[in-house]
Amino acid sequence: MTSRRIASGIPGLDPLIEGGLLDDSVNLVTGETGTGKTIFSLQFIWNGLRKGDSGIYITLEERPEDIKADAMMFGWDFEKFEQKGLCKIIYHDPAQVNNLGSIIIDEIKTLKAKRLVIDSTSLIGLNIQEPSRIRKLLLNIINIIKKTGCTALLVSEIPEEQKALSRFGVEEFVVDGIIILNYLEYASGELNRSLIVRKMRRTNHGTDIYPMEIGKDGVHIRRVDD
Ligand SMILES: Nc1ncnc2c1ncn2[C@@H]1O[C@H](COP(=O)(O)OP(=O)(O)OP(=O)(O)O)[C@@H](O)[C@H]1O
Ligand SMILES: [Mg+2]
Repeated sequence: MTSRRIASGIPGLDPLIEGGLLDDSVNLVTGETGTGKTIFSLQFIWNGLRKGDSGIYITLEERPEDIKADAMMFGWDFEKFEQKGLCKIIYHDPAQVNNLGSIIIDEIKTLKAKRLVIDSTSLIGLNIQEPSRIRKLLLNIINIIKKTGCTALLVSEIPEEQKALSRFGVEEFVVDGIIILNYLEYASGELNRSLIVRKMRRTNHGTDIYPMEIGKDGVHIRRVDD
C-alpha cells in the first residue's frame, strides 16, 4: 500500500522523500539557531494554504505580527488567509504549557486544519524543572497531534556544538520524520546551508547532505548542477 503524501512546499525536497511528508505524520525540523527552521515551517503552512489546506502556526517565541512581517518578505500574505478563517498564527506563552494540548485540539477542530507547526518545542520545557515532567508533557502533546489527522512540523533547537537532535532528547524517538538544517560558515564569509533527512518512516529517503538556500521565494534545495 502506498501512503498518501503531503507536499512539503520546499522546492527540491519532495523528490528526496518519495513525493512528500506522510499524511498525518509528525516531523521534527531541527537545527542550530539561524538555520532557517522558522522560514521552512512557514513555507510548509503557506504551501498548504495555496492548495486549500488550512493551517495553524503556534509560536512560543516570536510575536505573530513579527512572523507575518517576516513572511511578507517572501510574498507570503498570511493575513489574507487569516481573514478568510483558513489560517491562524497563534502566540502561546511558554510559561503556560499545561493547556497547550487542549488548545491544539480546539484550534484544529475550529479551523479543520490539515497542517500544524509548533515553533518551537524547545521552549515547552523552559519553565519546568524536572526533566521527567518535560518529557511527559512533550510526549502527551505529540500523541495528541498524532490523533488529530494533521501533518505537523515541530521545530526544535539543537544547542550549539551538541550531538543531540533536540533539546530534551525525547522528540526524535516519537516523531515520524526528522529533517536537520545546518550551516557552515567559511572564513571567506561564505555561508553554506544544507539539509539532511535523518529519518522518515515508511520512506526510502535520500541520504546525502543536500545544499539548501534561502532566496527571495524562501527555502529551496539546490540542484547539484546549480
Ligand atoms: N530574505 C532573505 N533572504 C535570504 N536569507 C534570509 C532572508 N531572510 C532571512 N534569511 C536568513 O534566514 C535566517 C533566519 O532564518 P530562521 O528565522 O528561519 O532561522 P531559525 O532556524 O528559525 O532561527 P532561530 O533558531 O533563531 O529561531 C537569517 O539569519 C538569514 O540568514
Ligand atoms: Mg526560528
